[in-house]
Amino acid sequence: MNKTILKLEKITKEYRAFEGIFKGSSTIVKAASDISLEIVKGRSLGVVGESGSGKTTLAKIISDIIKPDSGKILFHGEDINSLGDNYMNYRRNVQVVFQDPYLSLNPKLTIFSAMKDALKVHGIKGDAREICGKYMEMVGLDRAYLDRYPHEFSGGQRQRISMARALLLEPEIIIADEPVSSLDVSVQAQILNLMKKLKLENGVTFILISHDLAVVSFLCDDVIVMHNGEMVEYGTVEKVLNSPENDYTRKLLTASGG
Ligand SMILES: Nc1ncnc2c1ncn2[C@@H]1O[C@H](COP(=O)(O)OP(=O)(O)O)[C@@H](O)[C@H]1O
Ligand SMILES: [Mg+2]
Repeated sequence: MNKTILKLEKITKEYRAFEGIFKGSSTIVKAASDISLEIVKGRSLGVVGESGSGKTTLAKIISDIIKPDSGKILFHGEDINSLGDNYMNYRRNVQVVFQDPYLSLNPKLTIFSAMKDALKVHGIKGDAREICGKYMEMVGLDRAYLDRYPHEFSGGQRQRISMARALLLEPEIIIADEPVSSLDVSVQAQILNLMKKLKLENGVTFILISHDLAVVSFLCDDVIVMHNGEMVEYGTVEKVLNSPENDYTRKLLTASGG
């Protein structure tokens, strides 16, 4: 039952931030310090922390968009750097939806072309239009929208489209990095409700990144709190909300009126 999909072991990542090109001085930013955690099937994880705390860095490391300086990521027990033929299977199973879907959707491609490309990359056979249409409907959009371009949609619709494109690959995990931060409050609720439905009805395990503990507690089972690249708290949502161990978490709770 307790099936671990992903395991992070002592992940560390530093950036060198240059203060001035001519001064040549630089400071080291620790974006991830010694992060260890597990993603278990069916248990969605929230990642909370203020801007700059290392949330997006963590998302990019988990999805192998960037490499950590040290530490390991295990996908079903195997280091992602030694998956061999199984690497594309890992990539397929860990999908990312970013904050601004406008930047991640190619403006020159219709929604259908973009989705069809994703199917092709992962060698998924079948009637592409039928498959894509099915996922459009799953996120509450009309099949006919497949022939439109990204600019023809609202922010909330684009977020649904990004979600559909991720779902198409039937991933074990969808990482959603601040998926509702740039949306109006009423639309935020619609997208969060959609994610909850996908979790409950379609068995998607989410890693939901947000600066807002309330957003995370709506969807997630477990939560980590990030602060300056460190994981300062890790536990069930219930435990972290009701009896946080860390001062910084308590501050976040007060700030969000919890
Ligand atoms: N490519 C980069 N080069 C230098 N510093 C970076 C880079 N990406 C992120 N950082 C820094 O790393 C820290 C964590 O950033 P990020 O992971 O984007 O945080 P969050 O998503 O929580 O806002 C911040 O101090 C940020 O300025
Ligand atoms: Mg971020």
